[in-house]
Amino acid sequence: MKKSVRKAIIAGNWKMNKTRPEAKELLDALKPLVANADGKVEVVACVPFTNIDTAVSATEGSNIKIGAENVHFEKSGAFTGEISADMLVEAGVEYVVIGHSERRQYFGETDETVNKRTKAALAAGLKPIVCVGELLWERECGITEEVVARQIKLDLFDVSAEDVKKTVIAYEPVWAIGTGKTATADQAEEVCALIRATLAKLYGDETAQAVTIQYGGSMNAKNCAELLAKENVDGGLIGGASLKADDFNTIVQAAVEG
Ligand code: 13P
Repeated sequence: MKKSVRKAIIAGNWKMNKTRPEAKELLDALKPLVANADGKVEVVACVPFTNIDTAVSATEGSNIKIGAENVHFEKSGAFTGEISADMLVEAGVEYVVIGHSERRQYFGETDETVNKRTKAALAAGLKPIVCVGELLWERECGITEEVVARQIKLDLFDVSAEDVKKTVIAYEPVWAIGTGKTATADQAEEVCALIRATLAKLYGDETAQAVTIQYGGSMNAKNCAELLAKENVDGGLIGGASLKADDFNTIVQAAVEG
């Protein structure tokens, strides 16, 4: 299987940005711009929990899918401040970002909780976008391969081959997030290929070839075409540039053009 038959997915991760009126304004601006991507590139906006209702209504009947930025692993109960996978599904969410490096760095997420969240999301019918990536000092120490392969093995532990095909992997080198430092297209390709090779060892080549692997980290309107042209880079997880309709659309169009 080749890149051309994998699903290209361009997802915005809005992080802690946008009030509800601002969310509606951004999505209303985006809808006509990305309409031509329908059937070619999946366009997703992962929004704060408070914006989900607004975002689902604003994108109804369009080709923009809505995602959340996290999910808890228990079905319900005494977990103050948390949101379950069933709650997200009921609200109209299709995707969920799991294990973003900001969650790992600032909120104590571990590979174990990432694994639990991934399984809970899949069980509820959500499509997880599982984030992996090395810290700067890990890259400087030459252990990027070990770090990322370990994350893939732990984060996907006990996830079936069938479910892995519904899972998106986002390679986000931590040193490239919000820093303006993008991995070069060759660096991104090298690690995305390594992720696919790790998936192939775990699940076989046919399954590994079917998984969408995104790059994330300072991807923007200028550098997106070169990154997205790489064989193992099937899409992008976009932070800052997803907050502006024109910039995000430029990235979507680069993916449409392949
Ligand atoms: P930036 O695009 O702002 O670097 O953020 C990337 C990211 O963390 C997406 O999840």
